Amino acid sequence: MGFFDTRITKLFGIQYPIIQGGMAAGLVSTAELAAAVGNAGGIGFMCAIQWMDDVHKLEEEIKKIKDLTDKPYGINVTLFPMIEASWFDAVFELIKKYEVPAIETSARSPQPWLEQIKGLGIPWIHKVARIRDGVKAAKLGADAVTIIGSEEGGHPGAERNATSVVGPLLVDEVDVPVAIGGGFCDGRGLVAVLAMGGEAVYMGTRFCASEECIIHPKVKQKLVEMAYNETDYILMSVGDPVRAVRNSRTQKILEIEEKEGADGVTKFMAEDSGGLGLGGLTAMNTGDVEQGILPLGMVGGRIKEVKPVQQIVDEIVAEADEVLQKLSARKYWKA
Ligand SMILES: Cc1cc2nc3c(=O)[nH]c(=O)nc-3n(C[C@H](O)[C@H](O)[C@H](O)COP(=O)(O)O)c2cc1C
Repeated sequence: MGFFDTRITKLFGIQYPIIQGGMAAGLVSTAELAAAVGNAGGIGFMCAIQWMDDVHKLEEEIKKIKDLTDKPYGINVTLFPMIEASWFDAVFELIKKYEVPAIETSARSPQPWLEQIKGLGIPWIHKVARIRDGVKAAKLGADAVTIIGSEEGGHPGAERNATSVVGPLLVDEVDVPVAIGGGFCDGRGLVAVLAMGGEAVYMGTRFCASEECIIHPKVKQKLVEMAYNETDYILMSVGDPVRAVRNSRTQKILEIEEKEGADGVTKFMAEDSGGLGLGGLTAMNTGDVEQGILPLGMVGGRIKEVKPVQQIVDEIVAEADEVLQKLSARKYWKA
């Protein structure tokens, strides 16, 4: 068994234990990105909610990815409660119709959707930010669970956990394989995850800084220029925080949260999105880096260059290999 062979590579039928998580903020994780990650040896998830306005657009995207790769890929179904049940039903139907190879769920308990998910008969990974949710997902029958720390971009959870703490904790709590994410971008991260007992490194922000990612070049520029301590943890007052690159909009949101709490910020988000849709998230595609919300992780501070996905994956694997060799050489010094 090779060092990079894990129960997760086996589950998805992939070469390397590298997962690109589903991402939606406008359009982020589309067919091009997921196919590129699959072609490079990992697995990428297209995020279904990117097309929540029209499920037929998701269907077009599935057709597109089938043309771009014959390697495994998946669809992320982010179970946001404000989305209508009928839309989720339509997504599960498409996954079945097009024999999508894998499904990822996230954001809420998958319990209400269990029958549909299990009925697909394909590998299922569920993502959580809390230990108790991970344990529950494993009990419900998820084939694998991802746990993320609050370093991550997107919705990192209200407990503000550290990846290095919740990763090994969940590994010890469940029998199913665990992917660990939040703050990783390279081969050192991959080795760290394997050392923690994880069976795949899970990343989002690193893949936003790729040539295949559809986000606006100005956002990619911002990503490679940002420092690690230039993100804000916004919307904590409403119980579902978002980590986003610090700009005048995140600062304004924090100010309103401090002065007016959840009601004030909910009103602000509904009324003012800086002229942008989805509460400012469409800035990921329009490039309005000051007025929009850019939900990128703090690991942006370690990413210095936009690269093709193939190169990103090759470098992660090569660096992991190098680190492992260096570490195992040290063993002999001690002996
Ligand atoms: C721009 C962006 C949008 C995201 N949107 C979603 C989403 O809609 N659903 C979801 O489950 N995770 C979402 N995530 C989280 C990622 O799938 C992944 O958990 C996270 O990026 C991992 O941490 P990292 O950013 O430090 O690599 C998003 C992340 C980013 C960067």
